[in-house]
Amino acid sequence: FKNLQVLYINHCSLSGKIPDWLSKLPNLGMLFLQGNKLTGPIPEWISSLNFLFSLDISNNSLTGEIPSALIEMPMLESDNTAPKVFFELPVWNKNQFLQYLKPSAFPKELNLAMNNFTGMIPAAIGRLQGLFSLNLSSNRLSGEIPEQICNLTNLQMLDLSGNHLTGKIPAALSNLHFLSRFNISNNDLEGTIPNVGQFSTFPDSSFGGNQKLCGPMVANHCGSAEASSVSIDHIKQIGSEAIIFMTAFGVFFVVGVLYDQKVLSRHFG
Ligand SMILES: *[C@@H]1O[C@H](CO)[C@@H](O)[C@H](O)[C@H]1NC(C)=O
Ligand SMILES: *[C@@H]1O[C@H](CO)[C@@H](O)[C@H](O)[C@H]1NC(C)=O
Repeated sequence: FKNLQVLYINHCSLSGKIPDWLSKLPNLGMLFLQGNKLTGPIPEWISSLNFLFSLDISNNSLTGEIPSALIEMPMLESDNTAPKVFFELPVWNKNQFLQYLKPSAFPKELNLAMNNFTGMIPAAIGRLQGLFSLNLSSNRLSGEIPEQICNLTNLQMLDLSGNHLTGKIPAALSNLHFLSRFNISNNDLEGTIPNVGQFSTFPDSSFGGNQKLCGPMVANHCGSAEASSVSIDHIKQIGSEAIIFMTAFGVFFVVGVLYDQKVLSRHFG
C-alpha cells in the first residue's frame, strides 16, 4: 500500500521486530505501534521515511540505543514543513479530543516511552526543531540531559521520567516557552531546580523521586543542603588545623627530647 499515510496497530499483541516492509511505505506520515510486544532495535531505515512526522512505539520491549537515524528524520528536523496529509479534513483524534483542520495542526511527536532503551540521550536530539512532543519515559536511559534539548523551541511536552538520568537540569530549559507538560521524576538528577519561566508552573510531581534535587517543589530545600555542606567544610577545616598543631607539637617534642639527651649525656656520660 504505497499510499498509506497513517498506520495504527496499537494494542494488538504484535511480536517480533519492527517489520522492514514498513520502510517501503514512502508516504507514511503517522505510525502507531503502541502497546504491542515488539522487540529489537529501532531500525536504521526510519530516516528514509521522508514524510514520517509522528511515531509512537511506546509500551513495547524494544532495546538498543536511540539511533542517530531517528535524529535524522526529515520531517522532525524542520519546524516549517507542514505534514503532508491527503486525507479529508477535519479529522478527529479520539484520544485527545482535538480537531485537526489543517495539516500543520498535526503534532510532530516521538513517543518511545515504556521500552528497554539504554545509553545516553544523544546531543543531536537538539536538531529535531519541529518536535512538539518528546516522550522517553520509563526506559533505562543514563547520562546527563543534553544541553541541546533546549534548542527544541517548539516543544510543548517533554517526559524523561523513570530513567537513570544524572547531573543537573540544564538551566536553559526554562527558555522553552511553549512547554506546558514536563516530567523528569524518578531519575538520579541533582542540583537546584530552576525556578524561573515555565518551571514555576509545573507540579511538584514533575520532579519527585530524585534524591539529590533541591528546590521549593521537593522535600529537599536547597538552603539546608548548602548549610550542611558548609558545616562539613568547616569540620574539615578544623580537622586540618588540628593536624598542623599536632605536627608542630610532635616536632618540638622530638627536638626537646634530643636536646635533653645531649645535655644529660654531657653531665653524666
Ligand atoms: C501496555 O500495553 C499492554 C498491552 O496492550 C496493556 O495491557 C497495558 O495497559 C499498556 N500499559 C499502559 C500504561 O498503557
Ligand atoms: C508518555 O508516554 C507514556 C506511555 O504512553 C504515558 O503513560 C505518559 O503519560 C506520557 N507522558 C506524558 C507527559 O503525556
